Amino acid sequence: MLRRLHSEQPDSFAFTPANQAWAEAQITKYPEGRQASAVIPLLWRAQEQEGWVTKPAIEAVADMLGMAYIRVLEVASFYFMFQLQPTGSVANIQICGTTSCMICGAEDLVAVCKEKIAEKPHTLSADGKFTWEEVECLGACTNAPMAQIGKDYYEDLTVESFTRLLDDLAAGKVVAPGPQNGRYAAEPKSGLTSLTEFDSGKTQYNASAQLAMDIKDGVKRIQGDEVPLLTPWVGKDGVVAGRAAEGQPPKAPEAPKPAVKQAEEAAKAAPKKSAAAEPASPEGAAAKPEDAAGEETKPLVLKEALGGLPDDLKLLKGVGPKLEEKLNSLGFFHFEQIADWTEAEVAWVDARLKFKGRITRDGWIEQAKRLQVGDETEFAKRAKAEGIYKDDE
Ligand code: FES
Repeated sequence: MLRRLHSEQPDSFAFTPANQAWAEAQITKYPEGRQASAVIPLLWRAQEQEGWVTKPAIEAVADMLGMAYIRVLEVASFYFMFQLQPTGSVANIQICGTTSCMICGAEDLVAVCKEKIAEKPHTLSADGKFTWEEVECLGACTNAPMAQIGKDYYEDLTVESFTRLLDDLAAGKVVAPGPQNGRYAAEPKSGLTSLTEFDSGKTQYNASAQLAMDIKDGVKRIQGDEVPLLTPWVGKDGVVAGRAAEGQPPKAPEAPKPAVKQAEEAAKAAPKKSAAAEPASPEGAAAKPEDAAGEETKPLVLKEALGGLPDDLKLLKGVGPKLEEKLNSLGFFHFEQIADWTEAEVAWVDARLKFKGRITRDGWIEQAKRLQVGDETEFAKRAKAEGIYKDDE
């Protein structure tokens, strides 16, 4: 397929301020003189912003990275993931046409696209809402036939379900990504035959499909307002941590730290007894240090779980549903928080629980240290398998 710039181009391109900040942060990932390495993420962001990669966008990215325009055009025209022509305002439908999907009905899905969108791929529908194209295997072969729409996969499609999907998208309805035939993921249609212990406690939809439903958008393009917007070593003001005054070479970035760890370090570094001692906190969190009171020191607490995804604290031996609720109300949602408690912080938490001494007696910190790195304790294994969460208050 000949990939060239589209015959009609906009006059100009500019990243939104948020995307500009994100793009500049991406560039800091690479050593001085190697900024060109950021070409793909920047082009991708431009496409997410505009729907396709325009000539002005190619030039703007080239200018940002100190590259010749032709070098950026080479990248944009080489990779098929970059759309060099306008795409539908609602979505560009990518139908997998490789073996599994073809055998299971991809050609029927293409026929639907031809009928409802446009006879030829990469052509806008009459209302401008859709374009379509056939792509190679998207790695969801056990859920064939499937299509990628925006950021999500729509799987186990039939002509009927795919037609309904397009109609719903055109009507602006929220559509649920993932399998469209009732499957949760890629398990047998008749249900799980093994690993059944993982069947409990799951969300209504699987993984990113749940996220899409939570934000009520299964086709979301990046608008530039997502978090984390910046790379972890860049502050919200766009300044690279540790980078000296203007004119000095940028410092090689440190490995990113988990958000909880960053907030903890900020909280511990904050001066005590100062009303202005609010530490830098992770997105969505409000860490608030407090003065030591005798033997007690308030640990880092959060207003809510990071990313809205709390750990299952009931996997700690000695923590049941009520105690988990209590811990959450105190601002503890993650194993990582508990694993880092000092003796004085344990005393602070202990003083707020009904029965003192249980943290040490049940070894919460040792358990949390293992659970935070994905290691499972004997208790956690049994709790998951048998649901033996002990009620504890
Ligand atoms: S063949 Fe379609 S996802 Fe692999």
